[in-house]
Amino acid sequence: MSALLDSSPPTPTQLTPPTPGSDLDSQITRLMRCEYLRESEVKVLCQKAREILVDESNLFKVGGACPTRNYLFLGDFVDRGYYSVETFLLLLALKVRYPDRITLIRGNHESRQITQVYGFYDECLRKYGSVNVWRYCTEIFDYLSLSAIVEDRIFCVHGGLSPSINTLDQIRVIDRKQEVPHDGAMCDLMWSDPEEIEGWGLSPRGAGYLFGGDVVSMFNTTNSLTLIARAHQLVMEGHRSMFDDALVTVWSAPNYCYRCGNVAAILELDENLERSYKIFEAAPQEARGIPLKNPSPEYFM
Ligand SMILES: [Fe+2]
Repeated sequence: MSALLDSSPPTPTQLTPPTPGSDLDSQITRLMRCEYLRESEVKVLCQKAREILVDESNLFKVGGACPTRNYLFLGDFVDRGYYSVETFLLLLALKVRYPDRITLIRGNHESRQITQVYGFYDECLRKYGSVNVWRYCTEIFDYLSLSAIVEDRIFCVHGGLSPSINTLDQIRVIDRKQEVPHDGAMCDLMWSDPEEIEGWGLSPRGAGYLFGGDVVSMFNTTNSLTLIARAHQLVMEGHRSMFDDALVTVWSAPNYCYRCGNVAAILELDENLERSYKIFEAAPQEARGIPLKNPSPEYFM
């Protein structure tokens, strides 16, 4: 999971009034302590999230409203740790509580197929004893935006570019409310990676493409962009710039899979879109609680 944040001050409680009749604040507090929500609470939360997400564009617009603080998360919320359920539900609760302040971009792991292989399905089953919570969550995955644009200048996406897409308008018209396809524009946005090549290349992942600096330069020029911000690849130092600063990878999961030893980063943008990075390390084990079991081998694939 990777995150960008936009500007400074207020704490979340100062931002917007609570959703009437909800106990979202209590749910947020419990999720922050990695406590489970009841299945019935998950169902209602997912219904509320759907009402909000359904009206969002494929290309979510972020920005304005300074000096409030906005968070944009770049996807892959699940499959990579002991607390995927709590992590995703916390993000969803924050989205419902502060719809204009939280943006969630879909990653390649927000998929029915991928979560059945890499852990989220098993985690839901283990914690709830049925597949209902997994089903509620994966249904919401289909509503997450594919990308976001900050102040018309910074394009944010989980993976990268697609040979099927030259303009932002081509992203806006994608019918995103579906499982991640195996190929095509929607798939590429979530699966592609930048690489030091010219043009396009085959991806060793088996989905998406590799794309070079010339592709990024053309896309940024065509769409009047200054930067592409994406996640999807582990960066030991938390962030990495490529192609003369035309693209940055932001990685916000410290000590990935509990063993990679990497630091993590949040890209912070001020009101002039000047960039700075907040670097952080994993919380100490004693502050994180005891996992239910050791990670299965597939976590590391
Ligand atoms: Fe990814």
